[in-house]
This record gives sequence, C-alpha cells and structure tokens, in this order.
Amino acid sequence: MEESRHPFLEGLSKHRGVAPTVAVIFGASGDLTARKLIPAIYNLGVDNLLPNDFHLIGFGRKAISDEDFRDAMEASIKEHSRRPIKPEIWQRVRDVMFYASADYGDLEGYKSLAEQIDGIEASLGRKVQRIFYISTPPNVFEPIIQCLGESGLAQANIDTPLASKVIIEKPFGKDLKSAENLNQLINSVFEESQVFRIDHYLGKETVQDLLVQRFANAIFEPIWNREYVECVQITVAEKLGVGSRGGYYDTSGALRDMIQNHTMQLVALTAMEPPVSLDPESIRDEKVKVIRSIQPLNLEGEESDVVRARYTNGLINGEAVKGYLEEEGIPEESSTETYAALRLMINNWRWKGVPFYIRSGKRMARRTSEIAIRFKRPPGILFSEEGRYNVSDNTMVIQIQPNEGVTIVMNSKVPGLETRMQPVKMHFRYATTFGSNTPEAYERLILDAMIGDSTLFIRGDETEASWKLLSPVLEHWDKLGAKELETYVAGSWGPALSDELLSKKNHEWRHSG
Ligand code: BG6
Repeated sequence: MEESRHPFLEGLSKHRGVAPTVAVIFGASGDLTARKLIPAIYNLGVDNLLPNDFHLIGFGRKAISDEDFRDAMEASIKEHSRRPIKPEIWQRVRDVMFYASADYGDLEGYKSLAEQIDGIEASLGRKVQRIFYISTPPNVFEPIIQCLGESGLAQANIDTPLASKVIIEKPFGKDLKSAENLNQLINSVFEESQVFRIDHYLGKETVQDLLVQRFANAIFEPIWNREYVECVQITVAEKLGVGSRGGYYDTSGALRDMIQNHTMQLVALTAMEPPVSLDPESIRDEKVKVIRSIQPLNLEGEESDVVRARYTNGLINGEAVKGYLEEEGIPEESSTETYAALRLMINNWRWKGVPFYIRSGKRMARRTSEIAIRFKRPPGILFSEEGRYNVSDNTMVIQIQPNEGVTIVMNSKVPGLETRMQPVKMHFRYATTFGSNTPEAYERLILDAMIGDSTLFIRGDETEASWKLLSPVLEHWDKLGAKELETYVAGSWGPALSDELLSKKNHEWRHSG
C-alpha cells in the first residue's frame, strides 16, 4: 500500500517506532484530560515524538464542536504545559483533534466513532492503531469497555502491530472483588497485551531510575537485604487537601487513592528481586512476586500494622485551612481517612524481619515522596553510641519528588583536635546534573502505550495482589466506621498513633513531630 502522510506532521516524527495512531480519550472534558493528557500529548508533539499520522478524538457526554474542544484544549495547554505553547506546533496538533459525543453506554455512539476512524484510515490510505484512553469516573468503565467490544473497536487490526490498545486510569476497582470483576470484563474484550493499566507514579523519572540505581550499580545490591537494612520507610505526603474533589475522595480515601497503587508500586520496585531481563513480563513477574510475599496485616490490638486518620483544621504555609469534614462535598458522617500508615513485613529470604513502613496523607507538613533505606548500625566497638560519640544511622534516601535526587547520610569526623562526629550528606540532584524540565510522567506513559511497551503499566495480577493485601484493611475500617478514626492537625506529620507504629519496634519516622 502506498504510504501517505498527514501533511502537517509530515517528516516531524523522530520516533520511528510509533505506528500511525488515532487516540480516543473518554472523559475528554474532564480534569485529567485538561491538566495532564493534552499537555502531555502536546509536549510529545514539541519533541517530535508523535507519529507522523496522528489523530486525536475527544469523546464525552457533553455535545461540543471540534472547534470548541480545540479552544478548550489550547487553554489547558497554556495553563498546564511544562513548556509554553509554540504556535506552529500547536497548530499541527490542533488540526488533527476532533470531538465526538455520546452516552458512554450508547453503542450507536461507538459505531459512529468506528466510522469516523475508518474515515481517517481511508483519507490516509493506511491502517492505524486505535488507542482508547479511559479517563472517566470509574462508574462508566464497564459500559465503555463493553461497547468497545461490541462495536468491534477493541478487535480492530488484532494480531498485527496495529492492534487496538486500551489505557485505563485509576481507580482500578475499589477492592479485590471489583478489581477481579473489572479484570474479567477487560480480558473478555481485550487480550492482556492490549491492556495498559496506568499508575502515573511509574512514569516519573525518579521511579524509573529505581531500577537503574538498584541494578546498574554494584555497590547497593549486596547490602539491600535483611543483613544490612534495619527498616525501609516510604512516604508519599501532600500538602494539598481534597480541594474540589471531595465527592470522589470521600468514596476513596488515602488507602485506595494513594497506597493501593502508587505507594505499593514504590514498595514493589524497592523490594523486588532482580528480574531475569528488562522485558515487561520479567519485571512485572518480580513485582507481583514480592507483593504476594507480604504477610497479611494485623488489624487490631497492640500488634496492629495499620493506622488511619483524617485532618482537622490547621495551618498550611502559614494560612488557616479547613478540616476535612468542612471541605466541600464531604458528608458530616464521613469516616474516610485522609492519612494511612502501614507496617508491611515481606516474608521472603531477602527481607524477612525488615519492616517496610509506608504512609501517605493529604494536608501534611511538607510535599514529599521519598524512599528511605535505613541501614543497621555498625557494631559499636570503636565508636559506641552510648559513649561520647553521636553515631547516626546510615540512610539512603531516594527523593521521588520534589528536589528529585538521592542522598546518602553517613557519619563523619568534625574537623578539629578532638574526635567528634556529625552526620553528613552526599547528594545527587537530577536538576543539578541533568537540568530541570524533564518530561512529565504522562508523556512517557502515553508514548510507551503508543509503542506497545507495557513495562511501566500494571498487569492484572499485580493489581489483584495489591488489593488482596489491602481489601481486609478496608473491610475492617468499614466495619468500624468513624470509630477509632484518629485525627491530625492539617500541616502536621500525621497522628501520634502513627509514630507509635514505629516506636514499638524502636524506629521513628524520618520526619515527624
Ligand atoms: C492521584 C491521586 O493519583 O495522585 C491524587 O488521585 C493525588 O489524590 C495525586 O493528589 C498525586 O500525584 P502527584 O504526581 O502530584 O504526586
């Protein structure tokens, strides 16, 4: 077949691996589309990474014209893109953007969508891959997937490199049962190789670098185990409150919103065994394996491994902020947690006995996502802690965001005539070494999905393994309702009980109090 090129994108794509693509975004008038997806696609365009024949169709319930959709997307790029709009590039992308509207469960709407894409293929004179990005609220995931199946869109060009793909946003289920059901439905319509379950943390540069830090260096892996590691602390803290997302957030809470997905991915990448190769299945096999090795959590009594809490009013950046119950859209009888902390014990050869403390919360003292590996102390023969020496823990901190980098804390002699010690820090900062303005997570993930590389996406069994561990916690909290729900002041490091979770084992959070 004679290859034809879209006149505007002609010759622009330096990413030869990306097949001609029609991307359809369900939930096109939503917040994620405006804040993340369209700016990411535009920035791929700036970097010449969009395929030569690229078209985008926004799909939503609201009926709006192509032109209005394009104007709205232009406004969102202006507001949210990491790089300013370049008119000549934006014009090219803008011209290949269209809008289609229908109810998500209306099969006719999908038949017209199929015709629209067939029309694009006819005008290009070549086949395209269809990418369906489901970025809607989860209550319509099901009808969308069903209609993609029934309309034949899911099976288009199957068994060729142009097979359709589906990208599905979180939340992937709300517990184990619903995640299993969703997986069953998806796998009845798509092959697993067509499915890209997104967790945007995997698209972050620092998270991708975890594999490189661990497995491209010889100095860390020998001490990355129970012989040398005292505990691991993973913190994903936000200063933001729930803002205008109260309606969604109250049905979710910190465990579902942040722990089940983002934080568990950080646990998996930190704790997993070296994969046999870098292919997606080998990496994902190791991630599932380690999540499955986590011991079931104790939910009650002295040995409880879980803490939950919600914020009360307090100060953020010196300004008074509301408590969770006063936020817009939150029912007064809410028992949703805005903070969760867990102690995970991994029952395998490498980690037996090493606690992995993980926590995530809104309205915390600082915005920080970090993985801290705290090493055991040396035998206190020469520089004993009890004596006059102030020996500190060796800690390696992988700072996911902000101020992305790696810090190693170690003891050093303070220059002078007597032997005094002080903890000092060795820093590597991405911005200093590589400059700032690195691609956003969504840029990498959308590009990978277009290429068909699923390494940075979650496999079905992986999400189920994580839900299997956490669903009992949610059931337990559901039963308790608001009983025993702790509180913490907005702008603090969480409830006192969360400090006790660590102090029972003689540990303490890196930032607390
Ligand atoms: C989303 C959660 O998945 O991640 C939000 O739904 C949260 O509640 C966000 O604010 C945090 O992402 P990031 O990239 O800002 O750390």
